Amino acid sequence: MLRRGARIRAMKNVVVLISGVGSNMARIVDCCRDERWPARIAAVVSNRPDAAGLERARERGVPVLVVDHRDFDSRAAFDRALGDAVERHAPDWVALAGFMRVLGDDFVARFQGRLVNIHPSLLPAFTGLHTHRRALAAGVRVHGATVHLVEPALDSGPILAQAVVPVLDDDDEHRLARRVLAAEHRLYPAVLRWLIEGRLRTDGPRAVLRAEPGESLLLLPTETPDV
Ligand code: GRF
Repeated sequence: MLRRGARIRAMKNVVVLISGVGSNMARIVDCCRDERWPARIAAVVSNRPDAAGLERARERGVPVLVVDHRDFDSRAAFDRALGDAVERHAPDWVALAGFMRVLGDDFVARFQGRLVNIHPSLLPAFTGLHTHRRALAAGVRVHGATVHLVEPALDSGPILAQAVVPVLDDDDEHRLARRVLAAEHRLYPAVLRWLIEGRLRTDGPRAVLRAEPGESLLLLPTETPDV
């Protein structure tokens, strides 16, 4: 019997895709556990067997899986195998977190609407690689990260939330990258949690959050950045 006022909240399954260090993935796993999201991180999947993030996931008790893109002779075959591996975990959400392969249209279509990505720039500026270097070269004063729903074209799809960081006079690529990554670690888990809780949706080009106090789809820089 349910207590009066108790809500039935189905646990959502999240699959996280990585290629490397996996610091965003680790933050997502930790926040899911510590903040008691109504979700489980069902699996972490890497396209690289040597991804450091695999160990970080294992340490956290999350099942890991490798689908090595080098084992396939076409992008389509890799995408199919990856999609099958992801699908086996019945994901409500698939989170790309430093996943460095471009996914084909079929994969994106298969998970469209439940496929999210974090990109290290304020989209639509600086799609693609080397975003921090390019931001410095462009002389911008603000930079940051974007979480967006994934659509077939590279780094496109409805923007869900953005984190802004300042570009400081003495920044180099690595310092700026560290500052952006710290912002990513705040932004990505928050956005995933809102999606899982059903509080974040898109309305045309804009995302709408049923926000609780202190929550916003725009994460502003702190007065004195740590890095
Ligand atoms: C992050 O900056 C992410 O935005 C980008 O690759 C980096 C991955 O870092 N796509 P990590 O693997 O989560 O530590």
